Amino acid sequence: MTVVNASIAAPRMLQVGGGAVRQIAEVLTKFGLSRPLVVTDPFMVSSGHVQHCLEPLAAAGIAVTVFSDTVPDPTDTVIEAGVAELRRGNFDCLIGFGGGSPIDTAKAMAILAAGGGKMRDYKAPVQADRGALPVIAIPTTAGTGSECTRFTVITDTECDEKMLISGLGALPLAAIVDYELTYSVPPRTTADTGVDSLTHALEAFVSKRANPFSDALAVSAMALIGRHIRTAYAEPRNAAAREGMMLGATQAGLAFSNSSVALVHGMSRPIGAHFHVPHGLSNAMLLPAITRFSVGAAEARYADAARRIGFADDRDADAAATAKLVAGLETLNTELSVPNPAAYGIDEAAWNGKMALMAEQALASGSPANNPRVPDKAEIMDLYREVWTGAPRNA
Ligand SMILES: NC(=O)c1ccc[n+]([C@@H]2O[C@H](COP(=O)([O-])OP(=O)(O)OC[C@H]3O[C@@H](n4cnc5c(N)ncnc54)[C@H](O)[C@@H]3O)[C@@H](O)[C@H]2O)c1
Ligand SMILES: [Fe+2]
Repeated sequence: MTVVNASIAAPRMLQVGGGAVRQIAEVLTKFGLSRPLVVTDPFMVSSGHVQHCLEPLAAAGIAVTVFSDTVPDPTDTVIEAGVAELRRGNFDCLIGFGGGSPIDTAKAMAILAAGGGKMRDYKAPVQADRGALPVIAIPTTAGTGSECTRFTVITDTECDEKMLISGLGALPLAAIVDYELTYSVPPRTTADTGVDSLTHALEAFVSKRANPFSDALAVSAMALIGRHIRTAYAEPRNAAAREGMMLGATQAGLAFSNSSVALVHGMSRPIGAHFHVPHGLSNAMLLPAITRFSVGAAEARYADAARRIGFADDRDADAAATAKLVAGLETLNTELSVPNPAAYGIDEAAWNGKMALMAEQALASGSPANNPRVPDKAEIMDLYREVWTGAPRNA
C-alpha cells in the first residue's frame, strides 16, 4: 500500500487559530503583498461575513477590490469573468474567502491568468503547475481543505462536467485557518462539508497513493472529525467542536492533496455537475455503499480507519471493524439527516438516463483508479443504482 517515493506539497504558511483572520494584513506583508483582489460569493457579501476579511485589511491601509460573482460549484464562465476583473486592476495576489467554491475560483483564476486558453485545457491529467499570482485562502467552512490542496474543481458549462484540475498552480501560498469563521455555517452545510472532510481523510488513507506523510494527517483528521462532527451539527456555537472540525478539515486536505481521493469523489463529481447536489452531500449519499463495495480489498486499512473514527475499537477484529465502519457511516447519515437522491428531489428517469455518462465521467477523472477495489463501468453503474434504491431517508 505504501508508495516509496511521494511528492509532498503544502502552503508555505498556515496561520491557525480562533481569530486568526485578524492577522490577514500581517500575512500579506510577510510576503511583500499589498494589492489583493478578494474573491468571495454573493452571500458572504450580503450577510456581512466578508467584513471579517475586509476590516483588518482596511485598518492596515490596504486598498481592496472584491470580486463576488462566485457560484457554488464554480464554472469556467465565472473563472473567465474573474480573470477579466483581474486584468482590470494592478493586483499582486488573490484572497479566496469563503467555502470551497470561492477558494477554488481564486485558484482557477490564477491558473487561467497564467496560461490563457480555456479552463478545460488544464483538466487532469494535465499538470497545472503555474499560477499568475499567489493565492491566500481563508476557509469559512470545515470543509473542503481547498486552502491547502493542489486541486481546484471547475465545471465545464458546455458539457456539465466537474473537472478536476491538479497542480502546484492550485496550491495556495498561505492559508488562514480560523474556526470562528464557521460559527455561522447552518447545520445542513456543517454536515455536508464535515462529511466531505471525513471522506477526504478516509479516501487519502485507503488510496493506492497513501504514504507515511499523508497517513499521519489522515489518521489525525479521522479522529478529530469522528469526535466532533455530530456536536458541530447540533451545536453551531460549540467552540471545541468547531475548532476540531476546522483542524480536521485542513489536515484531511493536506492528506488527500499528498495522497489522493478515490472512488467516492470520482462518482460524486458527476452527481454535483448533473443534479446540483452540494459536494459534501453527494459524497455522503455514496459513502456507505462505496465503502461496503471496497472494504474487502483493503480490510486492515479500513478496519484501522473504523477504529480511528470511533466506529470500532481495538477489541474488534478487522472483519468486525469493517462491518462497523459501513454500519457507522449509515448511522451517521441518519444522524445528519442525509437524504438519498430520491428524497433530495432528483427525478428517477433523469438519474437512470445519466447513469452511463456519470460512470464514464467518474472513470475519466482518474480518481476511481486510486480506490483499493477498482471498478469497471458496469460496477459503477451498479453502485449508482444501489445508492438510488437505498432505504429512503428524510431530507
Ligand atoms: N479544491 C479542493 O481541493 C476541493 C476539495 C473538496 C471540494 N471542493 C469543491 O468545493 C466546493 C464546495 O465547497 P463548500 O462545500 O465549502 O461549499 P460552498 O463554498 O459552495 O458554500 C456553500 C454555502 O455555504 C455558505 N457559507 C460558506 N461559509 C459560510 C459561513 N461561514 N456562514 C454561513 N454560510 C456560509 C456559502 O455562501 C454557500 O451558500 C465544490 O465546488 C467542491 O467541488 C474542492
Ligand atoms: Fe471533497
